[in-house]
Amino acid sequence: MHVVQTVSEVRRIRRELTGSWGLVPTMGYLHEGHLSLVRRARVENDHVGVSIFVNPTQFGPNEDLDTYPRDLERDLSLLRELNVDLVWAPPVEEVYPPGFQTYVTVEEVSKPLEGAARPGHFRGVATIVAKLFNIFQPDRAYFGQKDAQQVVVIRQMVRDLNFPLEVVVCPTVREPDGLAMSSRNVYLTPEQRAAAPVLYKALCAARDAWKAGEHDGEQLRRIMRSVLDAEPLAQTEYVSAADPTTLVELGDASRGVLLSMAVRIGKARLIDNMLLLPKE
Ligand code: PAJ
Repeated sequence: MHVVQTVSEVRRIRRELTGSWGLVPTMGYLHEGHLSLVRRARVENDHVGVSIFVNPTQFGPNEDLDTYPRDLERDLSLLRELNVDLVWAPPVEEVYPPGFQTYVTVEEVSKPLEGAARPGHFRGVATIVAKLFNIFQPDRAYFGQKDAQQVVVIRQMVRDLNFPLEVVVCPTVREPDGLAMSSRNVYLTPEQRAAAPVLYKALCAARDAWKAGEHDGEQLRRIMRSVLDAEPLAQTEYVSAADPTTLVELGDASRGVLLSMAVRIGKARLIDNMLLLPKE
């Protein structure tokens, strides 16, 4: 496994190893969610690249950039076990050298939900992902459904800027009690951790209602909110029942809906979602 820091080393190895490449972008502190993406990439490509970079441009001024969990040695040993070919773990100056001034803004789908709660977040995500695509030039890039709006933003960017690659979306990996795996779950105290599956419970309640014929978006939002409100440790930032491609809030959810939410529990800001599509 090559472990490199510079753009030029990535480009050299990318040129030397011919055949198809899969790329898995990450911010490190890897868990089963990340590893499921790497395993899928391993099966579908001749070579697999992983980036580990806590991208400062996608964090707001009052967010957790400085405290974001990191453990590069552990990450590298996990990736070695999965036969990854190339890991890029650059310092910040390699990605954003002095004088850097070009950003990618995906306009409409970056505005609601996470974009409204975290101004500038998706500009940072789109910019780093565009740079990763240019540096690695992968045939396929792997993302988790866990970050549903991120997937919508990246798909839009790939379409609009003609990146010659396939975006592959992998299912959300959950703990046995339903909590979506996240590097940020380490912020939870044991008591808060016990309350955290409430997000998944709220999603399941709305899904069950939808399957039983409740296709009114407002009612679906109400169901999710009422489950979240019953948990005293949870402070709901938003609940959404939106169009899966435009992310506009739906009145009529009969043709499919992306249920999503952001909830604060203690110091952690947790997000989760579920995509409901009618049977063909
Ligand atoms: P990070 O939060 O490290 O996540 C890296 C990838 O793993 C993302 O595609 C994310 O959706 C996926 N992932 C995280 N938790 C998951 C889970 N429980 N199940 C399945 N997939 C999961 O997302 C980012 O980093 C950054 O925004 C990045 C794309 C790397 C750009 O900086």
